[in-house]
Amino acid sequence: MQKFVVCGGQKLSGTLRVDSSKNAILPIIAGCILTDEPVELQDIPNITDVKKMFDILRAMGAKVETGDGRAVIDSSTISRFEIPHHLAKDIRSSIFMLGPLIAKYGRARVAYPGGCDIGSRPIDLHLFGLRELGVNICEEYGFIDCYCEKIRPTTIHLDYPSVGATENIMMASVLGSGETTIFNAAKEPEIVDLANFICAIGGRVEGAGTSTIKIYGKTTLHSTSYKPIGDRIIAGTYLLGVAICGGSVTLTNCNYNDISLLVNKLHNSGCYFNVESDKMHMEANSRLLSIQNIETQPYPGFPTDLQAQVMALQTVSEGTSVITENLFETRFKHVPELIKMGAKITLRDRMAIVRGVESLSGAEVSATDLRGGASLVLAGLVAKGQTVVDGAHFIDRGYPSLEEKLSSIGARIERV
Ligand code: EPZ
Repeated sequence: MQKFVVCGGQKLSGTLRVDSSKNAILPIIAGCILTDEPVELQDIPNITDVKKMFDILRAMGAKVETGDGRAVIDSSTISRFEIPHHLAKDIRSSIFMLGPLIAKYGRARVAYPGGCDIGSRPIDLHLFGLRELGVNICEEYGFIDCYCEKIRPTTIHLDYPSVGATENIMMASVLGSGETTIFNAAKEPEIVDLANFICAIGGRVEGAGTSTIKIYGKTTLHSTSYKPIGDRIIAGTYLLGVAICGGSVTLTNCNYNDISLLVNKLHNSGCYFNVESDKMHMEANSRLLSIQNIETQPYPGFPTDLQAQVMALQTVSEGTSVITENLFETRFKHVPELIKMGAKITLRDRMAIVRGVESLSGAEVSATDLRGGASLVLAGLVAKGQTVVDGAHFIDRGYPSLEEKLSSIGARIERV
């Protein structure tokens, strides 16, 4: 099991290019199933979740060639429609295969998905939407067994703007004829990117980015070469890393609008920003003021995927911060690890009350999920002495070569 060893106390300075978005490219990889023509994906992030999605496609018979940060996916040779437990269990995005498989082949048998251990991660909204589209679903023996003669375009009202359910329903509706409308759809930038990809292969999706999305069935799709958006969570993580250490950073391949709420909160805490269309510059020259209230919400609210990382910053900011996690019921597993480093955090149900301290001290800590692990690395960057973060593989799920990126702007971090 690999670890990160971090020596704290360095100010950071430099330029970082933000990698393509994990949460955009994972559903897009599934969406490649929809067309029988080869699709080229550019700027593929080197993360384990992407590799596992490619393994799933290959297991079904698709051809996937990768190299130079690109992938060419040919789904015309798919001949199996089952995703076994050992391929589905490690990632949440295995569930995204349901929609495109049913749209194209009328059948799918997928083992229950895995993903970060941050809550129960139900899939009831996915299955609700697919059943509304006329899909017969049987849940038995750890599998979701789906069969559908013909997708029945309809209007679907989601009880909650679930990102994954919106993506699965969207992809299930792309082929055929007729119009499907999703009300209370998720509005994340990754939803817009998936819709743009679907349109790039000849599908027709309107309203992505709003709470009402319309999908018009099309009978034939074609190839494309597509570059996903930059990863707003990686961009936010980098900003928080420089904010916690002090220094300056220029980020490229990122869109201010995707993380404007975080940027505005950091600005109000004392950071300076210069924002352009696809890059931003930030300076943090003194101890920051606490962000008094953070409540995670679906986009455009504060992203749950930045909750752990912003908490690391609050542990050394001036004042008290109240962080409420509204999306996932057990997404505070980084808290006891931060406390080992000297953080003053009190948990009350879904609220974490963080009293800023002058400094943290390095310790041996363990990551148990992707973003919690990133939070511990950020804390190690500012802690006195050495911090060892166990569970590097959790972090590798969503951050390509985190140690190389942070080292390039002055951090003392290595993988062992
Ligand atoms: C996506 O997960 C992301 N993962 C998550 O990122 C992200 O935290 C989440 O969206 C919210 O933004 C990928 O895109 C691969 P949801 P997803 O369905 O689709 C409840 C990361 O760190 N819900 O929007 O699983 C659910 O319990 C990961 O990159 C149901 O009740 O998120 C949660 O409370 C972690 N029934 C809320 O909705 C369902 O059928 C949000 O879940 C589905 C979800």
